Amino acid sequence: MRVDIITLFPELFEGVRTHSIVGRAIGNGKIELVTHNLRNWASDKYKSVDDHPYGGGPGMVLRFDILRKALSDIKKQSSEHSPKIILLTPQGQVYTQKMARELAAENNLILICGHYEGFDERIREYVDLEISIGDYVLTGGELASMVIVDSVVRLIPGVLGDDTSSQDESFSPSTSLPAQAGSGSARLLEYPQYTRPKEFEGKKVPEILLSGNHREIDKWRKKQAQERTTMKRPDLLKEKLEIGKT
Ligand code: 6GU
Repeated sequence: MRVDIITLFPELFEGVRTHSIVGRAIGNGKIELVTHNLRNWASDKYKSVDDHPYGGGPGMVLRFDILRKALSDIKKQSSEHSPKIILLTPQGQVYTQKMARELAAENNLILICGHYEGFDERIREYVDLEISIGDYVLTGGELASMVIVDSVVRLIPGVLGDDTSSQDESFSPSTSLPAQAGSGSARLLEYPQYTRPKEFEGKKVPEILLSGNHREIDKWRKKQAQERTTMKRPDLLKEKLEIGKT
């Protein structure tokens, strides 16, 4: 997968590029991360990319002509793919694991990071999808695009060391539910995990996990996942029932 990012702060992506699982996925060619400084498309000597809003009001607005030129040049660069163009904005669809799975199936994403007060409305016609990462306001789309890159890259086959480790986790489709409610889309929080030591400061690992009885362990984990979801995120179970109804 190729991911193009249009931003005023390409240097912010250096950490993502060089570290951890995303860094390794870049290193072994599973993904290509290409950042583009929007200022490269500025046309005046001040390299300005934004201007005051028509009609007045506070702040600056990213210019349509500059965003549009950047977008069309970047699309040409990756002409062998048909890129999915995504605008990061608090007005977008709220990001979920389901969207991450859909994006992981794409060949090329182009992420546009908004900044300052916003961008000229006319760019909206040129994007396929608007995404928000939650109901709060960030100063720019950069952190949001890192969230998207991280959550998408780890779903690309071969990126995680063990291909099953993205299957059992919280928000993944659950196989542990009664068939009539399951519908393949139900989500549960992940069961609790333990590792060595068996006991520390009087805190013990649940006996069942040491039993070697994998059927019983599986049952226990499913029950824990259900209970945990009921306690911490009952809204997820409610969604599940609604999905089950349709
Ligand atoms: Cl994608 N951008 C900005 N600026 N703020 C946000 C966001 C995106 N998602 C949540 N808040």
